[in-house]
Amino acid sequence: MNPSQTSPEIVHHLPPHYLERTLREDVRAGLTKAAKTLPPKWFYDQRGSYLFEKITQLPEYFPTRTERRILEDHAGEIATASPTEMLIELGSGSSRKTPLLLDALKAAGDLRSYVAVDVSDTALIEANTELSKIYPDLDLRAVAADFESQLHLLPKDGHRMVAFLGGTIGNLEPDAREQFFLQVRELLRQGGGSLLLGTGLVQPPEILIPAYDDASGVTADFNRNVLRVLNAELGADFDVEAFEHVAVWNEGEEWIEMRLRATRAMRVRLPGAELDVSFDQGEELRTEVSAKFRPERIAAELEAANLRVAGQWTDPEGRYAMTLAEPA
Ligand code: AVJ
Repeated sequence: MNPSQTSPEIVHHLPPHYLERTLREDVRAGLTKAAKTLPPKWFYDQRGSYLFEKITQLPEYFPTRTERRILEDHAGEIATASPTEMLIELGSGSSRKTPLLLDALKAAGDLRSYVAVDVSDTALIEANTELSKIYPDLDLRAVAADFESQLHLLPKDGHRMVAFLGGTIGNLEPDAREQFFLQVRELLRQGGGSLLLGTGLVQPPEILIPAYDDASGVTADFNRNVLRVLNAELGADFDVEAFEHVAVWNEGEEWIEMRLRATRAMRVRLPGAELDVSFDQGEELRTEVSAKFRPERIAAELEAANLRVAGQWTDPEGRYAMTLAEPA
């Protein structure tokens, strides 16, 4: 089936060649630093998205199932606390947990539309095609946009709920989080609404490390996939298998770091970024931070952007929190 025949149009806000250009910029900036880094958003090509789906099913990886559990138990209360006409989901991906929210919001008030926001056209089309089967009466919209810089282009009318699930906020470093919360506050200025934020909570390293370094090696494969993306998109010649997966808990920052460690010295050519880089044996490239939070820190960061906590729900083991915030 050709999905474009049954799906609504995608509203495109990404400038032409935006992904190609920003990948090149990110790679040039990150691989020329003394301590090399790459932003985690480049994991998610088709294979990376598939590997991430597999991660969400691993016994060690608790965030996805814990968030689902909290929504199963509390979506009704969340919806009652913030009656919503339009649900806007940022980084919606497969929209797999979305029905839990849509059902609750429909029951609690007059939900009219759902807006999926993602940089991936394929994800948007597939997700909304599935949702259109379950919700034929809902106005389903798809917006291709970057949630870090383009929130001002999202719908400004009516009482909206902006959902940012999965703990993805933890992939942003503190400065970027601050910018993100300020943009959400601005988006909610007219019309009003709420932010529903999913966050992993600070846990002992014995729980956190295996979640990012699973026994079956899926996360290792996911981590190395970013090098495959660079090979495919920039014509780079990374010997992917020459890098080993490392996951460490950074106690001071309270975030997990994923790194790729070069098992031998090597030189890598990245013609698409007009760049050559060398790695020493044992040198590490940081590919992701995944911050975990304490409930009071979530509230403090939201309040710094003039958002106040209207409700917070956690699982019985205290591993994950859903926080509802509104303009103060
Ligand atoms: C995309 C934020 C949900 O940081 O936990 C999973 C990505 N990285 N395993 C996370 C990820 C390693 C993930 N999120």
